Amino acid sequence: MLLRRVARTLQRARLHYGHGTDNARDDAAALVWHALGLPAQPTAARLRRGATPAQLAALHALVARRVGERVPVVYLTHRCWFAGLEMYVDERVLIPRSPLAELIEPGFAPWIDAARVRRIADVGTGSGCIAIACAAAFPRARVDALDIADAALAVARLNIRRHRLARRVRAVKSDHFSALKADAYDIIVSNPPYVGRAELAALPPEYRHEPAAALAAGTDGLDSVRVILRDAARFLRPGGILVVEVGNSEARVRKCFPQLPFTWLEFARGGGGVFLLTREQLVATKRKRKQG
Ligand SMILES: C[S@@+](CC[C@H](N)C(=O)[O-])C[C@H]1O[C@@H](n2cnc3c(N)ncnc32)[C@H](O)[C@@H]1O
Repeated sequence: MLLRRVARTLQRARLHYGHGTDNARDDAAALVWHALGLPAQPTAARLRRGATPAQLAALHALVARRVGERVPVVYLTHRCWFAGLEMYVDERVLIPRSPLAELIEPGFAPWIDAARVRRIADVGTGSGCIAIACAAAFPRARVDALDIADAALAVARLNIRRHRLARRVRAVKSDHFSALKADAYDIIVSNPPYVGRAELAALPPEYRHEPAAALAAGTDGLDSVRVILRDAARFLRPGGILVVEVGNSEARVRKCFPQLPFTWLEFARGGGGVFLLTREQLVATKRKRKQG
């Protein structure tokens, strides 16, 4: 059958998975569904109907790009899901895959009282996935979706429109917090770039299709994290929280900021390298450093 054939081709090509899928069969299913224009839950009759020659040609072209150019599947189908919400994605933005989805869905419980949350900032919004998921989890909150890249903001705006959230989610060009007002946010959330130079050079070819600015963060991967840790407290309201994904850079963050009382969060669905700090913890650490 078609799906099995495509899966076998992908398997033989020894591709890298890690952009929303983790095996050849799921990649193959996404390509077959896309080329055949199948709905998420096709009926048995629809499946029996098979593929037209045009659909087979389209599938062949997609598989050729996945194998030959190592393009991640999501950049071929232009759709993925984050926190249960469909996102449009292309090579202007990172493919959404942050474990933060698992924290956002239940409204950052138990880390903040959801009833008090009025304003959220997503620093480095890319496709807008985190900002949009936050708006869904907090129906009374306003969300600022920040990015330095105009190209990423264009994709974020498209997703914001598709989810009919233009009244509550603003895509704003900002170098980290540069466009923000102080003392405004209950939650600052971020999945910033956090890949160091050596690590970046060693990544599989699939990652070269993602914008370099979404991954690269200086020699040790902490350029962006340093700015966030230095400035976030100024933009949080009392009782506010900062939640940041740093992925594999967790060990480096622990080592470089031994004075900060990070809470490292755990995820049932996998992934990690996400810390949480309260505004009060950030302020107290800064004060201690000044006194010392
Ligand atoms: C790792 S991607 C995360 C995208 C999205 N939030 C997600 O989780 O899929 C990091 C994003 O930060 C943006 N970025 C990089 N440097 C930035 C800066 N100085 N200020 C704001 N955004 C920045 C990049 O353009 C990119 O969209």
